[in-house]
Amino acid sequence: MPSVSVFGAQWGDEGKGKIIDGMARDADVVVRYQGGANAGHTVVVGDAKYVLHLIPSGILHPQKRNVIGNGLALDPIKLVKEIEGLRERGVRVGPENLFVSARAHVIFDHHRLLDKLAERWKGDGRIGTTGRGIGPCYSDKAARTGLRIADLLSADCCRERLSTVLKEKNALITKVHGADSIDLDREVERFVELGRILAPYVADTGALVRKAYAAGERILFEGAQGVMLDIDHGTYPYVTSSNTSTAGIAAGVGFPPNRIERVVGIAKAYCTRVGEGPFPSEDHGDEGDAIRKAGNEYGATTGRPRRCGWFDAVAVRYAMDLNGADSLVMTNLDVLTGFPELKVAVAYRVDGELVSEFPAAATDLNGIEVVTESRPGWTEDICAVRQWKDLPEKARTYVEWVESLVGVPIELLSVGPERDQLIPRK
Ligand code: GDP
Ligand code: IMO
Ligand code: MG
Repeated sequence: MPSVSVFGAQWGDEGKGKIIDGMARDADVVVRYQGGANAGHTVVVGDAKYVLHLIPSGILHPQKRNVIGNGLALDPIKLVKEIEGLRERGVRVGPENLFVSARAHVIFDHHRLLDKLAERWKGDGRIGTTGRGIGPCYSDKAARTGLRIADLLSADCCRERLSTVLKEKNALITKVHGADSIDLDREVERFVELGRILAPYVADTGALVRKAYAAGERILFEGAQGVMLDIDHGTYPYVTSSNTSTAGIAAGVGFPPNRIERVVGIAKAYCTRVGEGPFPSEDHGDEGDAIRKAGNEYGATTGRPRRCGWFDAVAVRYAMDLNGADSLVMTNLDVLTGFPELKVAVAYRVDGELVSEFPAAATDLNGIEVVTESRPGWTEDICAVRQWKDLPEKARTYVEWVESLVGVPIELLSVGPERDQLIPRK
């Protein structure tokens, strides 16, 4: 397939890194289009574990080109560290296989600082952000006060823009938040130096991707976060600040939406969420803890314990519908081994009425009743299974049941973090 969108169909951490690394074998260009270093995408290769935050998950295939699109909120400090960290581990990363959009927005120290300060003011209403400056950076983008990667390439331009921006930010930081102001000279010096380091990577990535596509190359779009964290379609305000769904590609890359030919969602066989906000199928009891333990559910970016619960078919069906998904990849099926009863949220009830659409507002989710059904679990270890027919019957029944609930074919199952721990359906 020449162009494929792969997105997270839940609240993030669905195993996108692993699946995109696998699909990258059949791609020429792997493209990130939104988010920033709030993402943590894990790829396990033998004994080595890589957690990618900004660099696309195609980077472990040395011949593939990787693109950081204009839609990102890009922390250049983190990007330089990530490049260096991968190189130290022998991964090929250079201007020949990594391209950074000149139009991507820059995360500065004041963005990270204001992210944390704003959370403190929100108290119980806090979002539980990753503290990576994502919200403040996208706010500045929309307010037209942000700086883009291209602005770091000229010291004069960087100083001029940043001096205006910092006047207002420092007033906010000192007078509203009572914190220490940020020094303009130091910031200009550091970020111009980062611009100098990144200059060889900077490109017109939209043109690059469009040209590659026109030349018949295969493009893989890597979503970060998940649909339920989408700024427009997620559980607002408990969301991230970008369009995490396939719709984000057109704007976040500069790629015509009608050229996206295949759309694949990824969901775990259960559900997790990091941070605050509604999570209808959350299990607050022992089973939620047991899922966390079995799935080692701790954030890849912040290390926070992930909230755990059961597969939410209402949320995933909504994600499939919203994205026009052709199929679903189900990850972490192995984690459910040993649970006697597997629950799934099959519907929500509002004021006694069954609703089929995912409620539009976080407040609407407060009053819902989750309708749960269950199927018996299996006890056999399935980590070494590679063929559908070799799965325990109860595992197959569970997958087929979930498939019937979400309305798209489940094309692939993942039964462990390693590259080869996959079961194709056909
Ligand atoms: P992403 O953000 O969507 O890329 O997902 P994360 O990397 O944040 O979290 C997924 C976690 O699950 C990582 O630790 C992966 O190594 C791991 N993982 C991926 N697929 C599977 C699977 O099928 N089974 C198990 N047990 N772990 C998996
Ligand atoms: P990947 O790509 C899971 C969550 C945060 C918080 C909310 C807003 O690894 O799936 P932000 O820092 O973006 O302003 O935080 O979104 N969040 C994620 N949760 N996986 C992620 O990325 C996430 N990126 C952000 O925990 O609730
Ligand atoms: Mg993650």
